[in-house]
Amino acid sequence: MQKSLKQAYDSYFPIGAAVHTGSIVSHSNLLKEHFSSLTAENEMKFQLIHPEKDRYNFSMGDAMVDYATANNMRMRGHTLVWHNQNPEWLFKDVSGNPVSRDELLERMKEHIHTVVGRYKGKIYCWDVCNEVIEDKTDGLLRKSTWFEILGEEFIEKAFEYAHEADPDCILFYNDYYATRPDKLEKITKLLKKLQAKGIPLHGMGMQGHWNIYSPSTDEIRAAIEAYASLGLQVQITEMDVSVYAQDDRRLDITVPEPEWLEKQAVYYREVFKLFREYKAVITGVTFWGISDDTSWLSRLDKTTRKNWPLVFDWERKPKQSLYEILNF
Ligand code: GLA
Repeated sequence: MQKSLKQAYDSYFPIGAAVHTGSIVSHSNLLKEHFSSLTAENEMKFQLIHPEKDRYNFSMGDAMVDYATANNMRMRGHTLVWHNQNPEWLFKDVSGNPVSRDELLERMKEHIHTVVGRYKGKIYCWDVCNEVIEDKTDGLLRKSTWFEILGEEFIEKAFEYAHEADPDCILFYNDYYATRPDKLEKITKLLKKLQAKGIPLHGMGMQGHWNIYSPSTDEIRAAIEAYASLGLQVQITEMDVSVYAQDDRRLDITVPEPEWLEKQAVYYREVFKLFREYKAVITGVTFWGISDDTSWLSRLDKTTRKNWPLVFDWERKPKQSLYEILNF
C-alpha cells in the first residue's frame, strides 16, 4: 500500500497544512491521513483573535488546537506581530490619534502574553514577527506602523514577550522571498543583530510561496545553509508552487497546461530531495493549504483565474507532484 505523506516523512520532519475552521471539517480525511502539523491560515492573526481592545475571540483558534490535539498533530502559531490584518483599534488611542509608544508596547505585551499564554504547551512554535524586512528600497526594515511608532525595538520586544509567555516555545522569524540574495542578506543582518543582543530567537521560517520557475534549488539550498549557519532551525512555513511565473498576470485561465503540472512535479521532487538532505536543520515543512481548492492563490484576484499550487488537486485527489515527493 502507498504510504501517506506523514508516514513517508516520519523520520525527516512533520508535514503541515494551513487550515481554517471550515477545512478542518471539509478536508478532515485528507488531513488525518497525510498531515502531522497544522497552522491557522488566518484565525490567530491579530485582527481575528483580538478584534477589540478588551475582547479576544479564541473560538476559532481553540477549535483548531483541539482538532490538532485530538488527531495527534502539532500546531504552529501564526502570527503575533505583522503589518497586515491588524484591527483598527490597535494603533489608535481613545480619541482616534496615533497611540503613544508606551501604550503600544503595553498593548503588544498584553496581546502576546494572552495569546501565547492561552496555547502554552499546545502550540509548539510561533511565527513571532512576520515580514518586517523592507524589500522595495534599500532600507532594512519595512516602514510599518509598528516600526513608525516603536522603532526597530518592536522586534526584540515581541520575541522577549513571547519567550516570557512560554519559555519552551520555539520562536521563529518568518518572511517571503527569503531565498532572494538581496533579501537574504537583509534578513541575515536582522537575525544576527537579534542574536548579538541575546534575543530568544530559535528558527527561521522561509515562507516558500514559490512557482514552477523560481527559485532554483541552488538558491533554496544557499538560503537554508545561510540561516542554518546562524545556528537556527529552519522551517518551510507556507509552501506552494504556483503554475504562473511571478510576472504572469493572466486572469482567464481555468484549465492548466499539462506541462505546467509536469514541471511542478519535477520542482516538488527536487525541492523535497533537498529538504531531506537538510533534515538535520529542517524541522517542518508546511503547505499553505491542503488541496488546490483551498489555496489562497485561487482566491486572490476575485476573478476566474485558477491555480494548482499544491500536491492534491481541486477534487482532493493526489497529483503527480504528490507521487514525486512520496516515492523516493
Ligand atoms: C503571507 C502571510 C500568510 C498569508 C499569506 C497569503 O505569506 O504570512 O499568513 O496571509 O501571506 O495568504
